[in-house]
Amino acid sequence: MSHERDALKHAVAAAAVEELEPKLTRDAVVGVGTGSTANFFIDALAAVRHKFDAAVSSSLASTARLRAHGIPVLDLNAAAAVAVYVDGADEVDPSKALIKGGGGALTQEKIVATAADEFICIVDGSKCVEQLGQFPLPVEVIPMARGLAARALAALSGQPAYRQGFVTDNGHIVLDVHGLDLSDPDALERQVNGIVGVVENGLFAARRPDTVLVGTPTGVVRRA
Ligand code: 5RP
Repeated sequence: MSHERDALKHAVAAAAVEELEPKLTRDAVVGVGTGSTANFFIDALAAVRHKFDAAVSSSLASTARLRAHGIPVLDLNAAAAVAVYVDGADEVDPSKALIKGGGGALTQEKIVATAADEFICIVDGSKCVEQLGQFPLPVEVIPMARGLAARALAALSGQPAYRQGFVTDNGHIVLDVHGLDLSDPDALERQVNGIVGVVENGLFAARRPDTVLVGTPTGVVRRA
C-alpha cells in the first residue's frame, strides 16, 4: 500500500470522526467496519472515546483493534441502537451503491450497516467507479454449498473463484465472482442472496451509505 493512499485513508478517517463527533452522546453506540481504511477510523475514533458509550464491530480484527484502544465492544444484540456506522468499500458508484467484502467481513458489515441509523462510507478516490464490477463480487457461502452456489452464480454469467485458504469469522467460505452484470445492483443483490447456500453478498444497494467521504489529493469530497 502506497504512502500516498494511506495518507488519503487517514484523511477520510479523520473527516468521518469530525462528521460524527457533534452527533455523539454519552450513551451512543458507534458501528465500526473492517479493513485498512476502517483501521485508520478506529485509530482516529480513539481520540473521542470519552464522547460515546461503546462500539459494535463487524469483525474479530476490528474488535481487537478497538479493545486495544480501550474502546468497549458490545454484541449488536446488546445495543439499543447504533447511531452511526463507518466503513470502507472496494468500489463506490455514482448512486452510492457499493461492492464490499474484499476483507471477507461483508456479512457482519451489512448487518451493522443495516442496523445503524446512519452509514458513512470512507474511501480514497481510487475506489470511485462509474460502473460497479471491476472488483469481483465477494459472496459468503456455507462450505457444503460451495459447488452448488458456484454453479448458480455461473448460470448468472459469473465466474466464481474460491478464495483459497480463507474462512470468514462465521466459519464460511468466500467466492469472488467476476463477470456478473451489475447494471442493476439492487436486483442482483436480491438475486444472489436467493441462491441456496449463500449467506450474504458484498453488494450494498438496499443499504447504501447516507454519505460517502472521498479522499483526494486536493482534499476530502463529501457526497450525500
Ligand atoms: C472488508 C471490506 C472493506 O471495507 C473493503 O475491502 C475495503 O478495504 P480497505 O479499506 O482495506 O481498502 O469490505 O470486508
